[in-house]
Amino acid sequence: MSRMIVVSNRVQVSGSDAGGAQGGLAVALSAALREHQGLWFGWSGERTDTFSGHIDFRREQGVTTATIDLEDQDIEEYYDGYANRTLWPLFHYRIDLAEYERDFAGGYARVNARFADTLRPLLETDDVVWVQDYHLLLVGAELRRRGCRNRIGFFLHIPWPPKRLLSTLPGADALVRAMFAYDVIGFHTREWLESFREYAVLELGAVPVGNGGLAIGDTTVELLVAPIGIETADFKAAVEGSIARAAFRQMQESANGRAMIIGVDRLDYSKGLEERFAGYERFLRDCPDQRKSVFLLQIAPPSRATVESYRRIRATLDGLSGRINGAYADVDWVPLRYVNRGYPREVLAGFYRAARIGLVTPLRDGMNLVAKEYVAAQDPDDPGVLILSRFAGAAAQLSDAVLVNPYSAEELSDAIGRALSMRRAERIRRWRALMAVVEREDVIWWRRRCTEALLGTQAAAEEIR
Ligand code: G6P
Repeated sequence: MSRMIVVSNRVQVSGSDAGGAQGGLAVALSAALREHQGLWFGWSGERTDTFSGHIDFRREQGVTTATIDLEDQDIEEYYDGYANRTLWPLFHYRIDLAEYERDFAGGYARVNARFADTLRPLLETDDVVWVQDYHLLLVGAELRRRGCRNRIGFFLHIPWPPKRLLSTLPGADALVRAMFAYDVIGFHTREWLESFREYAVLELGAVPVGNGGLAIGDTTVELLVAPIGIETADFKAAVEGSIARAAFRQMQESANGRAMIIGVDRLDYSKGLEERFAGYERFLRDCPDQRKSVFLLQIAPPSRATVESYRRIRATLDGLSGRINGAYADVDWVPLRYVNRGYPREVLAGFYRAARIGLVTPLRDGMNLVAKEYVAAQDPDDPGVLILSRFAGAAAQLSDAVLVNPYSAEELSDAIGRALSMRRAERIRRWRALMAVVEREDVIWWRRRCTEALLGTQAAAEEIR
């Protein structure tokens, strides 16, 4: 029997008491590893003076973790630098924010090699290695260099940018070429997969092989579309639990009969919060008669605060929220409740249930699990309406949401108006279609799809423990 070794930058076992600030990835991986024993390897999130390669093993909430500390310079160049100042903006189509520095690329390669160095001795012959996300694109190639012959898969949780954008990255060819060390590469949508394929074919001369795979020389890689889901059954149970119920009641009381619109996002420029606020402001301006019967609760826990572009978006949103409230609030009503902190999942579940509209409008997003959680939290007899950006990976599955172009304040304003006046029959019809997807394609389905591809056969995937 094979063990599953998950490798990711952040190792954040999430249980029922986890804060709402973390990305969906941590939640999904915890669920996958809890279900199937294995090891979760990554950065501890801690700094050390000099990198030692010491591995800290722990067992947390049914998951074994193995973590390493990184040096200050590693964190600056690899995490703050190449991961979050180069790749994150570029992969979210923001080359205006992307910073290309050799030191960042060097630090990134060094840390990816450190991951491989420390992980390699832990691997047993039959282990299957599954590397996650943009921080670790090179780990597969580094493991191969150290003689690792295990099956190694990679999953990207953010978009893959179009060829013309990726071409702006110095060293892009070598980066993509290195990814051919993986046996399988997974994406959340066909669009991201096709962008990867286009780059590999047109820039690197890769040729199509077998069942949608690619080859360069005699190295082949299989490409997979596997949209990640949530722990739907678990989340539905959480909505019925006492914490969610209390949060629901608290929200209903404070809403005082007004319809609540909810947004929950890490404070990140890719989430389209500035544009969302502008769209909401437009709605307040254009619909004076409906104005005081709604409010927007935007929960946005700060993220990556050491990176300048994140500090800027935070300052911009502080200004915008102040301006909107200054212009429209009344003594007994505040149009925008803007909250910079995270909440436990159960509390969010209650908030989602109390919200008439879920507003999920990223400018670009690999998937977006808030959209799915919002759907899973609704009352089947009187569900709210999901307004979803066309540019979130989730839109490929959730086509029964009210889909919007998040760059257009007018479209956002119209969508809010439409959702508020939507009849119950239509809300129920849309919600049922959405919920069918969220239930069928949950995180267990996702993990199974990935492990099947990783191991080559369904029978083999069941062997994994
Ligand atoms: C996104 C990424 C994850 C990341 C998360 C939180 O969801 O895809 O890899 O962990 O954001 O960001 P952070 O930088 O705090 O890990």
